[in-house]
Amino acid sequence: MTKILMVCLGNICRSPLAEGILKSKLPSDSFFIDSAGTGDYHIGKNPDIRSIAVAKKYGLDISNLTGRQFNVSDFDAFDIIYVMDESNYRNVILLARNEQDKAKVNFILNEIHPNQNHNVPDPYYGGNDGFENVYKMLDEACIVIAKNLQK
Ligand code: 4NP
Repeated sequence: MTKILMVCLGNICRSPLAEGILKSKLPSDSFFIDSAGTGDYHIGKNPDIRSIAVAKKYGLDISNLTGRQFNVSDFDAFDIIYVMDESNYRNVILLARNEQDKAKVNFILNEIHPNQNHNVPDPYYGGNDGFENVYKMLDEACIVIAKNLQK
């Protein structure tokens, strides 16, 4: 079983979308995929209605996911930790205990733009366009992730 964690700030906009998209591209009997936020504002909450809506538009149901906070035990529980932006990266790396933990962490967009450390923009304070844009970026990245993991 390969275990992959998607991380953003609130765990209500970007990372639940990334979780839903990657789950739709990989078989659940060999891949465990989850998401978490570095912040604690939305623990126990379902995804933002705008993330639920854009997922639904593309045939995915993420409405039952619930927010949780990233914690140090996630370094043991997961093989790969994808962060959405540089702020998430800093916050996750701050919790790393050693180089092995740090090596698990990567920017999700590095899968399509290697070593560029590009951010998936935080869509929380914008309109629906931001969510559409985020969906497309994450879908493109997850296509590459799923392809590489199944080689
Ligand atoms: P996310 O978006 O990190 O993609 O889930 C955000 C959600 C909530 C907040 C910020 C970003 N917030 O400040 O409450």
